[in-house]
This record gives sequence, structure tokens and C-alpha cells, in this order.
Amino acid sequence: MSYENILYEVRDNICYITINRPKQLNALSIATMQELKQAFIGAGDDAEVRVMIITGAGDKAFVAGADISEFVGMSAVDACHFSKNGQEVLNVLENSKKPSIAAINGFALGGGCELAMACSMRVASEKAKFGQPEVALGIIPGYMGTQRLPRLVGKGIALEMILTGAPIRADEALRIGLVNKVVPPEELIEACEKIAKRIIGQAPVAIEAALEAVNRGINMTSELGGMLEADLFGLTCSTEDFVEGPKAFMEKRKPDFKGK
Ligand code: COA
Repeated sequence: MSYENILYEVRDNICYITINRPKQLNALSIATMQELKQAFIGAGDDAEVRVMIITGAGDKAFVAGADISEFVGMSAVDACHFSKNGQEVLNVLENSKKPSIAAINGFALGGGCELAMACSMRVASEKAKFGQPEVALGIIPGYMGTQRLPRLVGKGIALEMILTGAPIRADEALRIGLVNKVVPPEELIEACEKIAKRIIGQAPVAIEAALEAVNRGINMTSELGGMLEADLFGLTCSTEDFVEGPKAFMEKRKPDFKGK
């Protein structure tokens, strides 16, 4: 599959997906969102890929939001479809079998912040800035920002960000729990790769099951989430890797997981 707006590369079991429109600060055009959807599906289906790292091209922006030039002349129905399509793309990412790490190298505004929040975790450069500035344009977040932000940082802080539209710096994003880690710009990809390699060393079926338990469970009652967890726990106990893991532990060696 060839892409015009993104770069897609698989190396050492990591799929690097880079939004590549630096002149527009990597704004998410409709075409870019379609390419991202294909990339997320492709990475999910590719047995070689164990983790995705998602970043923006250039040194200024991760993603500065949806492409504002495409808003002109949009009808209410078009805009509703636009929002639902974008939500679907980010849901594909969040619900992928493969964990994803947002490597936030600069502005993560609007759809950029929403893209980062759909990732399993977020690592930010010290230069990153976050925000949901949609109200300044007369709209509200449309790619699940009103849903994922309060779940990540709590309702009060989410409402402050969404209602003021004011950007926050990386250190503030770390303080409120929007990002997992903040590192110097030149160490950003390395920091993400370090997390990715650690994940790659674990049992693949367990990683997939843990992702599903957290991603589905967070939207369930605690009781139903517990039932899902128990079922997935049972599934992991039936794997060959659960024979290999304890055996390797007893033999004081690294496990050789097969993902079966
Ligand atoms: N959609 C389309 N184009 C965008 C864009 C977006 N979301 N964000 C930036 N760009 C374009 C600018 O129009 C400009 O293009 P030009 O060089 O052809 O004029 C280019 O990217 C550089 O942006 P510029 O505004 O000149 O950079 P800056 O450093 O002065 O400001 C931002 C950076 C991120 C603060 C500013 O670009 C901005 O506020 N962008 C919009 C953010 C937003 O509202 N996102 C939510 C959209 S729903």
C-alpha cells in the first residue's frame, strides 16, 4: 500500500507511522485520516508488527488538528459524517490488537490531541503543546475529545481545556496525567522504542488480552469488566506461552514466547 500523507515503516517489530504534512503542521485532512485507517488496520493484521509508534514529521508539530481548510462549506450532515468517520478511525487505533505509543514531538492540538489520546500511551517531547482549541473556531472536539479527555485527566480539568481552548505545555500535560513521560526532543523516539522493546519481550497473547481487558473494561461496569478480565485470564492460561513463561522463570532464562 502506498501513502501520500503518511510514512509507514516496519523495523524490528515496530511499525512507525508518521503523519507527513509538515507544511500544514501535519493537519489531519480527510485523505490523511483514510490513510491512517488503512495503516492501523495493516499494522493490526501484520504478524511482524508488535507495537506501533505514531509521530509527526518535522520538528514543530505532532498534529495541529483537523485540516481547517476542509471545514469551509461543510453542511451539518457532512460535519456529522466527518466526526463519525474520524471517531471510527481513532477507534480502530485504540481497539487494535497492537499497542500504540504516541511520540508527541510538537503541537498536539484538536484532532492531534485526540489522535494521541487514542494511542495506548503517550510520550512527549519537552517542546510539545497540547490543547482542544475547537471552541475558538465555533465548534467542539469531534474525534472523541469530549469522551477520552475526561476519562484520562478527569472531568474538571478536561472541561477547563475544552471550554477555554487554552494550550498546555508538556510538563503540565504530565502533571495532569495526559502523558506518561516527558523527554528532551532528541530522546523522544528512543524513549518510545525503549517502551516498545520492553512490550515486545512479553508474551504476545497476554499483551493482546491485557489491552482488550483495559480498553473494553474501562467502558463497562466494574463487575462486567471483572468478568471480562477473568475470561481473558482464562484464555491466557491456555496458551503455550504460559507453559514457556513459568518454565523459563524456573530455569532462570529469558522466555522464548511464540504468541500461541
Ligand atoms: N489545518 C490546516 N492548516 C493548518 C492547521 C490546521 N489545523 N494548523 C496549521 N496550519 C497551517 C497554517 O495555515 C500555515 O499554513 P501557511 O504556511 O500556508 O499559511 C502552516 O500550517 C503553519 O502554521 P502557522 O499558523 O503559520 O504556524 P504558527 O507557528 O504561527 O502557529 C499553531 C502554530 C499550531 C498555533 C497554529 O497553526 C494554529 O493555531 N493552528 C490551528 C490549531 C487548531 O485550531 N486546531 C484544531 C482544528 S479543529
